[in-house]
Amino acid sequence: MSNKTNNLRSVEIRNIMSLAMKPDIISFAGGMPDNNLLPVQDIDRIYHSLTLREKQTAMQYSPTSGLPSLLQSLHNYLKEKGFPLKENKLLITTGSTQAINILTKYFVNPNDPILVENPCFIGALSAFDSYQANIISIPLNEDGIDIEYLNNQLKKQKPKFIYLTPNFHNPAGILYSYKTKEKLIEKLQGLDIPIIEDDVYNELFFFEEDKKHLKSIKEINPEGIDVCYTGSFSKLLGPGLRLGWLLVPNHIYEECEIIKQSFDACSPSFTQVIADKFLRSGYVYNYIDKVKKEYRKRAKAMEKALKKHFPDYAKWVTPRGGFYFWIELPKNIDVTEVLKKSIEKGAVFVTGKTFDPEGKINNAFRISYSNSSIEKINEGIPIIAEAIKEVCEDISCT
Ligand SMILES: Cc1ncc(COP(=O)(O)O)c(C=O)c1O
Repeated sequence: MSNKTNNLRSVEIRNIMSLAMKPDIISFAGGMPDNNLLPVQDIDRIYHSLTLREKQTAMQYSPTSGLPSLLQSLHNYLKEKGFPLKENKLLITTGSTQAINILTKYFVNPNDPILVENPCFIGALSAFDSYQANIISIPLNEDGIDIEYLNNQLKKQKPKFIYLTPNFHNPAGILYSYKTKEKLIEKLQGLDIPIIEDDVYNELFFFEEDKKHLKSIKEINPEGIDVCYTGSFSKLLGPGLRLGWLLVPNHIYEECEIIKQSFDACSPSFTQVIADKFLRSGYVYNYIDKVKKEYRKRAKAMEKALKKHFPDYAKWVTPRGGFYFWIELPKNIDVTEVLKKSIEKGAVFVTGKTFDPEGKINNAFRISYSNSSIEKINEGIPIIAEAIKEVCEDISCT
């Protein structure tokens, strides 16, 4: 095995996924949409309305950059939302995971420093590890990255990029305030440090009044900073499509396309045809509206259960969109012990350590409400609460 693939994080992702698949366990582990919410009927309708020619296109290779028709419909979709499409180019990718991999390959040589948030999306950490980046992490506050800490790190080294998930962070669940985004932009002005902005949850907001904060850094379009934006159809439509996209400045685009070509030549044409029709038909708007409402209900139900069953020393930030609660317990609690007890009793979540680039966080965990009915939430949260209290019995938890 080459040293590029010899890393533990992929094993960790695999383990999480296999726990989440066990049929008899209540799983708050997976960061995926509920099967019952996937738009299968719309997809049936779309497939059956395809012409013979479209079906043939679906079964054929497509250009590395993406199916022209999808590039056009996605372009229009993003333009309508206010993205700067003139000075940037779109590349369809095999999930946003591939987009992150392409960008890492573009920017990073072994041992190059990069900056990430702590906690951080494990799929991105896995990509960064596989290119042997020197990962330096910056803590998150309730309204985004700790700017002071970032400032100190920037004095020590110049990173190849900074990777951020400002909207409905996985796993921290937070939404950056607009102010934090502004401060960040101000800090990076003139430093020649690109941003990778991972924005897969941006449509899943619960409150209209948050729209100002949701404006992505890409949409703000700061002069003098290369923002490489990644999006995904996984939360818009379904992760099984394996479709995402990159929106990058023109001067970065070409090399990214060449890198993608070496990965898989093209993303699945079949699902590109479907995604294109989903955008063009306008089904996408109704669908997002429907799932957002459902996720909001689940988040509310989960918080109610947390307040009722979890001890007072458990802390969290109420999510305003996305999929996750990030629960923090007192520093002396070993969350791995809580997880073991919780699995014995029938509920699973993901420990904080998984998302810590340094693998140290041992008193926090992520629970996802996206993939569980309200009944399962009401059944599962008391189980985790019991596990926490048992672990805490012998130590003082405050
Ligand atoms: C922050 C973040 N980025 C990227 C992804 C991966 O998305 P995709 O399915 O498009 O590869 C996820 C999935 O959970 C995520 O949470």
